[in-house]
Amino acid sequence: MTSIAALAAVAGELEAAFPDPWLRAFSVKANDVPAIVARLGRLGLAANVVSRGEWAAARAAGIPNAGVTLEGIGKSDGELRAAVRAAAAGDPLRWVAVESPEELDALAALAARAGLGAGGRPPLEVLVRLNPDVQPETHRGLAVGRGTAKFGMTETELTAAVAALPADGPIRARGIHLHVGSQLGAVDAWRDAVRRGLAVLSLVRAGRPAFDTLDVGGGFPVGDAGTVPRPARFAEEAAALIGALPEDRRPARLAVEPGRFLVAAAGTIVASVLHVRERGDGERVVVIDAGMTELIRPALYGATHPMRALTSLGAPVHPGAAPSSAARVDGPICESTDTFGSAELPPLHRGDLVAIAETGAYAASMASTYNGRPAAPQVLLEPNGTLTAARSRGRVRFAG
Ligand SMILES: Cc1ncc(COP(=O)(O)O)c(C=O)c1O
Repeated sequence: MTSIAALAAVAGELEAAFPDPWLRAFSVKANDVPAIVARLGRLGLAANVVSRGEWAAARAAGIPNAGVTLEGIGKSDGELRAAVRAAAAGDPLRWVAVESPEELDALAALAARAGLGAGGRPPLEVLVRLNPDVQPETHRGLAVGRGTAKFGMTETELTAAVAALPADGPIRARGIHLHVGSQLGAVDAWRDAVRRGLAVLSLVRAGRPAFDTLDVGGGFPVGDAGTVPRPARFAEEAAALIGALPEDRRPARLAVEPGRFLVAAAGTIVASVLHVRERGDGERVVVIDAGMTELIRPALYGATHPMRALTSLGAPVHPGAAPSSAARVDGPICESTDTFGSAELPPLHRGDLVAIAETGAYAASMASTYNGRPAAPQVLLEPNGTLTAARSRGRVRFAG
């Protein structure tokens, strides 16, 4: 279930921190349910996508190609061709962010074959992804801005790749894309990365005035007030770095593309209890009907999420209403890593409801149908309290 009021609140906070002319794009990988992308679109968010599937979700959400940026660590020929086709049809994506010199060559060959940049057809607008080589303050599995990570190009690779592009060819290099990591616990690595991005931008721009864009990615964390930096803190750092540059070296276009910050807190998984057992060491184990198929983050990188019991009407069980004790909450999947960890919960029985909070990001979009499970339904909680079906439960089909 996704709270639309919560989406609106965080979208407003992001806009206050990064007002126009910053482009604010929602990183669709965090939640690809079209109804949710559509609500964010109505709140002024563009869409940052990594595949044709996410691009389709953005289009289904009513976001035009001009509001879609395409990035991704490994784009297939089909994906590159689709971006070229859209540009040749006069409906280009806002830009394509390229990961490597080889990918840039492949894209340039496809764009040349489609006649982009010739005969009055505009070239394809491209950002080049810089590996910022920083030490992100986050879980190792989320620290994509490390120098050893597979993401982006070194400064040397990037500058050589752009220098090899003809000035009036089928590709127009417009600037730099970078991303430091997700759920950043501090602003330092992000500031270092933005500083590097600005320096490389300025270096390349000296020979190419159109190289004027800096997209600083996502990474803004979620957490209780005071425990993590808010977008405004990151914005302060960016403003200070950009403000220190001479005016003619400042990027003309700036973008952020958060995912988690926009959707995580708005989402809740509501599960029901299947059974409760005591283990030999006295541990209470509660098995619920949601598992790693709906929320893989705990199994994938040890993420924890707040959990609480709900009444049959869906209201939180009041902490004082029943004596609570520690319980381990496990999913129904045939894997021992299918666990959500421990929570203080009241006595529970089959059919009781348990809510797993802060599950709006990297849950539905990372879901699987392992163990033959249908996709979970998606529900929107409107600001007036009504519920709207955003996606119905997946179907199980029997052949005989
Ligand atoms: C390039 C890029 N941009 C944006 C994001 C969104 O990150 P977050 O959800 O932490 O804001 C990611 C996440 O992996 C990413 O790889």
